[in-house]
Amino acid sequence: MPTAESLTIREPDDWHLHLRDDDMLALTADFSARQFARAIIMPNLVPPVTTIAGAEAYRERILRVLPAGRSFTPLMTAYLTDQIDAEEVGSGHERGVFTACKLYPAGATTNSDAGVTDIRNIQPVLERMQAIGMPLLVHGEVTSPDIDIFDREAVFLEQVLAPTLRDFPELKVVLEHITTEDSVQFVQEAGTNLAATITPHHLRIDRNALFEGGMRPHAYCLPVAKRRHHRTALRRAAVSGSPKFFLGTDSAPHPRHEKESACGCAGIFCAPAALESYALTFDEEGALDKLEGFASEFGPRFYGLPLNDGTVTLQRESYEMPETVTGGGLSVVPFHAGETLTWRAAPRGEL
Ligand code: NCD
Ligand code: ZN
Ligand code: ZN
Repeated sequence: MPTAESLTIREPDDWHLHLRDDDMLALTADFSARQFARAIIMPNLVPPVTTIAGAEAYRERILRVLPAGRSFTPLMTAYLTDQIDAEEVGSGHERGVFTACKLYPAGATTNSDAGVTDIRNIQPVLERMQAIGMPLLVHGEVTSPDIDIFDREAVFLEQVLAPTLRDFPELKVVLEHITTEDSVQFVQEAGTNLAATITPHHLRIDRNALFEGGMRPHAYCLPVAKRRHHRTALRRAAVSGSPKFFLGTDSAPHPRHEKESACGCAGIFCAPAALESYALTFDEEGALDKLEGFASEFGPRFYGLPLNDGTVTLQRESYEMPETVTGGGLSVVPFHAGETLTWRAAPRGEL
């Protein structure tokens, strides 16, 4: 069978993205906007986005740094805290400001200190979200230091997610950036109200990448990459054609010096070649025909949003990913730094 030289798919969206703020926002935002028509914008700023006004202001800051005419829709999220007001969240959704809410268990990941200390503290908010069909996006890891870091996602399924789905059987939930076979199976077996996003990097690295010839801080993100068989399960899920698994890059830039440090930050900056990285994986799996569903159809259908009308074309083409991306005094190391990529996506048009 001849191998395809180009692939045209409906315009994709990114259902999990960190754009940060200030100089980092200016440096990174267009990497995503030139590939994706819409993105779910993570609210873990300092301080976090917890109010309608805060989300509106952040959306404006995002749109301001994009090149003139670039069409891109940031879909804003509310950062759940123990004290968050169900009315603020609910009316924010009804007014079209908050697309979803994000649950960070306190202490689980970058900028999660203000997160939820016990899921029982947000029952009224979950009640309201279930009633209005507002999705709950979850960083699915328990935080107890007694639980091994490689087990924190699996334990979360049992201790937090399963009971929450029992208590709120109609609540739409996205288990973000899944990293384990356990999560794949849990999502497959759950009702249609539970879906999951999968990052480009968790489809490519396993935990050995963190220690290849020495410590590799740029392969460190949370949830941390697991054993090889988990990566195999994620790949199977991504190319399966199941609408429960869709694209969410979790592109999470940190300045180079904050990654290459005695206590390096968690997060992988995959935005510069996110779509290309997924294409590489789907190609290796002999499943390029499954990329469109994963990248462009299953996410909007789950969220109840229209599919994009445009298309994007990827060409088979070899090029090297730079070692760093720089600007505004910042230097960030991208995923695939220094590697040769074999697919290139044409940038989305500027309207
Ligand atoms: C993310 C970040 O840096 O904001 N880091 C990460 O390792 N994924 C936070 C998150 O998505 O958990
Ligand atoms: Zn997370
Ligand atoms: Zn994230």
